[in-house]
Amino acid sequence: MCGIMAYIGNQEALPLILKGLKRLEYRGYDSAGVAVLNDNLKISKKKGRVIDLETSLEKKDLHGSIGIGHTRWATHGEPNDQNAHPHISGNGRIVLVHNGIIENYNTIREELTRSGHKFQSETDSEVLVHFIESIQEQNQCSLEKATRIALSNVVGAYAIVLLSLDEPDRIVAARKSSPLVIGVGKDFYFVASDASPIIEHTKDVIYLKDSEIAVIEKGDLLLKDVNNVKSLPFVQTLEIDLDSIEKGGYDHFMLKEIFEQPRSIGDCMRGRLNAETGQLVLGGIQEYADQLLNADRIIMIACGTSWHACLVAEYFFEEFCRIPVEVEYASEFRYRNPVIEKGDIVIAVSQSGETADTLAAIEMAKSKYAIVFGICNVVGSSISRASHEGAYTHAGPEIGVASTKAFTAQLIVLNMIALQLAKKKGYLDQEKFNFMLKEMSTIPGKVERALKNNDKIKEVAHKYKDAMNSIYLGRGYNFPVALEGALKLKEISYIHAEGYPAAEMKHGPIALIDENMPVVVIATKDSTYEKIVSNIQEVKARKGKIIAIVTENDTTIKDFADHVIEIPEISEALSPLLTVIPLQLLAYHIAVMRDCNVDQPRNLAKSVTVE
Ligand code: G6P
Repeated sequence: MCGIMAYIGNQEALPLILKGLKRLEYRGYDSAGVAVLNDNLKISKKKGRVIDLETSLEKKDLHGSIGIGHTRWATHGEPNDQNAHPHISGNGRIVLVHNGIIENYNTIREELTRSGHKFQSETDSEVLVHFIESIQEQNQCSLEKATRIALSNVVGAYAIVLLSLDEPDRIVAARKSSPLVIGVGKDFYFVASDASPIIEHTKDVIYLKDSEIAVIEKGDLLLKDVNNVKSLPFVQTLEIDLDSIEKGGYDHFMLKEIFEQPRSIGDCMRGRLNAETGQLVLGGIQEYADQLLNADRIIMIACGTSWHACLVAEYFFEEFCRIPVEVEYASEFRYRNPVIEKGDIVIAVSQSGETADTLAAIEMAKSKYAIVFGICNVVGSSISRASHEGAYTHAGPEIGVASTKAFTAQLIVLNMIALQLAKKKGYLDQEKFNFMLKEMSTIPGKVERALKNNDKIKEVAHKYKDAMNSIYLGRGYNFPVALEGALKLKEISYIHAEGYPAAEMKHGPIALIDENMPVVVIATKDSTYEKIVSNIQEVKARKGKIIAIVTENDTTIKDFADHVIEIPEISEALSPLLTVIPLQLLAYHIAVMRDCNVDQPRNLAKSVTVE
């Protein structure tokens, strides 16, 4: 978590850094700060958002063409001015911004305290800058060398950028397990947590590798590893355009991203799935395709919404490929001693490609010789690089903290992998395979149709915006969608919501149902339709308010439900791609009506790079 933005060049650094920090706020927005280097080192930091910092800076003189900035998601120490970054060394000559967690900071802090260091904050990051200072003093060495020595003594994850008054033409940056990207311009460099604040200035970037240190001067860049061995920078040109990271006329990124789904789903299939010719090609899954074909079991690991995508995929893989699938929270998987056999395949799913638990779970699986496929949205992200092979979801940048278009794109990629596999394994003949490809190709148009219910969903949202609790029910493929719908509501509107398999309701949640309880039921025409109609009646008998997601032209459920929202007809296995759309919109409108910060909900962050 946390966003880092740094600049070195010939322009005023401050406005560039502030603009970049605003783009990075999805990574954390508890506090923000900047430091600009000129003849002296000026620092300003503040609890709250980047805009609060910017307003507070109006009368301050922070001029200079080298600077660093930070937007924080608190880990050590509450969000306040003292704990905000940048942090400064005891002698006031070095400043640092940090994303990650220094796990052994307490031991280092105690040692430094014994030798006279005094700390202003409760953060692990301040300890790191003091540690670097003390190493520099002991060794009388450069900032880069002191940083290198310090980093070889810390345990944990970091992306850091430093400035020093003693080396006023230089930025030092380093990373381990937290991302850092360098933007390379004609006469400038940027360093940021991801490419989104860089691409309006340059599309040429270098992804810093784990344990690499960059020493950046105005016209020069040097890369080294922690052992002081130089490496050659690999500059790549990104294809992201600026429009894709702006709101494009929508009130919120989340709404824009919900409405982008017909396009993002289409982009995800483009060049891979051709329903006319009956072809399905996933370029990223080639070298290890045989291992996948012969897998005895697939283990899927992910967190949050991505975990829900895996749960849907479990149904799909088991139905079509007849391979046992286990879906695991990455955070649980990494800390037990899972049985991973030769012949098991791990599929890791992550929008950001940076989630610390998922990354660690991959490393653990690799240490047990598993082949890992990574399904990520962010190109070049750590998980995509840590995996043996994989496929990008190509949903485009997702800025809203609550994931929407990444979820549907993940389902598409997972479905494509499963269909390809099912065909190779002989479980799908050409006719059925072609049928599924045709069904997949209708999804963008059907999502478009599902989005047309936006106004109706808004009316429903208005009725239930003041609810304290809610229940989401689904069965089969749509049970994980019920979980996802409940998660969306919790995340952005702060209403307590529980997702449940509809039949399990009888074993607990039914006790909660009364006339004040909204119950969202996914009740599309599928193999469990009759059963779910009975479940709806059970809710109705207890006076619960029913919001049903039904297949177009369903007349039965209208008789029991308080509200029905239609989605177009589609094969059961693909229905989650449509049923999730009204649930995303419902959560969105309720959150807006409750005056919640939809794109940056409290306490959450888009990219969870700490465990
Ligand atoms: C955070 C985000 C969620 C996301 C989850 C997993 O909690 O707020 O939207 O689903 O992390 O992130 P990933 O990038 O690995 O999919």
